[in-house]
Amino acid sequence: MGCVRLSLVLFIAIVISAMTVFGNDARVNKSTSRLFWSTGKEDGDLVRKADSEESVGLSENDELDGGFSSLDGMLQWAIGHSDPAKLKEIAQNVQRLSHDELKKRQIEIQELMEKLKMPSDAELMKIAINDLNNSSTSREDRLRALEELLLLVEPIDNANDFGKLGGLAAVVKQLDHVDPDVRKLAAWVLGKANQNNPTVQQQVLELGTLGKLIKMVKSDFAEEAIKALYAVSAIIRNNFSAQETFYAEGGDLMLKDILSNSAVDVRLRRRCVFLVGDLAESQLENKRKATLPFFSDHVFLKAVIDLTSSDDLDLQEKALIAIKSLLQLKSTGASVFKELCGLDEALVNMRRQLQQVMEDESRRDYAEDVEILRQEVELMFDNKLDKGAQVPT
Ligand SMILES: *[C@@H]1O[C@H](CO)[C@@H](O)[C@H](O)[C@H]1NC(C)=O
Ligand SMILES: *[C@@H]1O[C@H](CO)[C@@H](O)[C@H](O)[C@H]1NC(C)=O
Ligand SMILES: *[C@@H]1O[C@H](CO)[C@@H](O)[C@H](O)[C@H]1NC(C)=O
Ligand SMILES: *[C@@H]1O[C@H](CO)[C@@H](O)[C@H](O)[C@H]1NC(C)=O
Repeated sequence: MGCVRLSLVLFIAIVISAMTVFGNDARVNKSTSRLFWSTGKEDGDLVRKADSEESVGLSENDELDGGFSSLDGMLQWAIGHSDPAKLKEIAQNVQRLSHDELKKRQIEIQELMEKLKMPSDAELMKIAINDLNNSSTSREDRLRALEELLLLVEPIDNANDFGKLGGLAAVVKQLDHVDPDVRKLAAWVLGKANQNNPTVQQQVLELGTLGKLIKMVKSDFAEEAIKALYAVSAIIRNNFSAQETFYAEGGDLMLKDILSNSAVDVRLRRRCVFLVGDLAESQLENKRKATLPFFSDHVFLKAVIDLTSSDDLDLQEKALIAIKSLLQLKSTGASVFKELCGLDEALVNMRRQLQQVMEDESRRDYAEDVEILRQEVELMFDNKLDKGAQVPT
């Protein structure tokens, strides 16, 4: 409790102090997608540049700094522009305030922040969409607009607004951009916006985006291919009709090609085999529909099973998860797995391989988990073989 109160005191003190220095004429410069805070007095000084950040080398887990859209950002700014002597004085005064007075101060600060016209997420999205839609926008500004959208479209309400603002169409257009980094980020934004969002899934499908993204997965530029597959997965996840479009657009062939090509980036193969498991799971849940021939195609099944001999534990694990779902599909007999795909042999070899990995202390726990999964799959396979023997097909 005391700690919370103290930091509130500090926060209020710092913001008030900064406001005293600059008066109320701080405002957001919305003329570009950069979030500039400027006072009439000191141009350059108050500008917090988002462009100092290197924008291209982002990995999936990198935190993006979209600029000045959080309390934290505001606090940083306020600290940087406070007069230390005044700050101390105000902090002492604020600390003497009663609970009610503190509450009142808090409301004042809130009003102050509203006066600062902190742009809403919708406003920020509009700016970014305009930048994307403007053919004169520079490469840097275009990448930045997409990076900002990456953060903005994550909350589900924002993703819905994003569609209404015409954002999906604007981002889909970027998939045709000549610059692979622009295409990569555009696919990433689409994936984020589609995550668990049936409304957006439908809008994106109506834009005919799936075929384009499936082609992008075959890109030689691994980062682009990975983000495109991420978007594809998000669009078709838990949506059977979207999955039908996926197959109609040759998505199954794309998966088959990637899984049977060991030269493909392992990150892409992991995601592909994960998607296979997801799709097989979907098939299991949709019993009313006939199973697609794809799932009985032994060339495809063998490609998945061959992944169990990979030296990448993560890939092996994902392959086992997919096999577990595939084995449960009634349409494919156990004999196909055994005779045409060599699953029994693959499982035996895998056990040997995992035992070797277990000798390595640092990977032992993981290998043991994968071994447990392998045993489950083996048991399931044996049961399927037994059933197949009872009911000849
Ligand atoms: C906003 O930023 C633009 C571009 O940096 C600049 O030309 C313009 O004068 C700024 N406007 C305000 C109100 O500060
Ligand atoms: C497009 O971008 C250019 C260059 O940044 C700018 O001058 C122009 O006003 C923009 N057009 C629109 C419609 O925003
Ligand atoms: C983007 O530009 C196109 C014309 O090129 C226009 O039809 C569309 O409404 C614009 N979208 C937004 C969100 O401004
Ligand atoms: C899947 O997407 C379609 C549009 O293609 C939509 O009509 C349907 O409601 C979605 N289904 C689910 C289960 O989300």
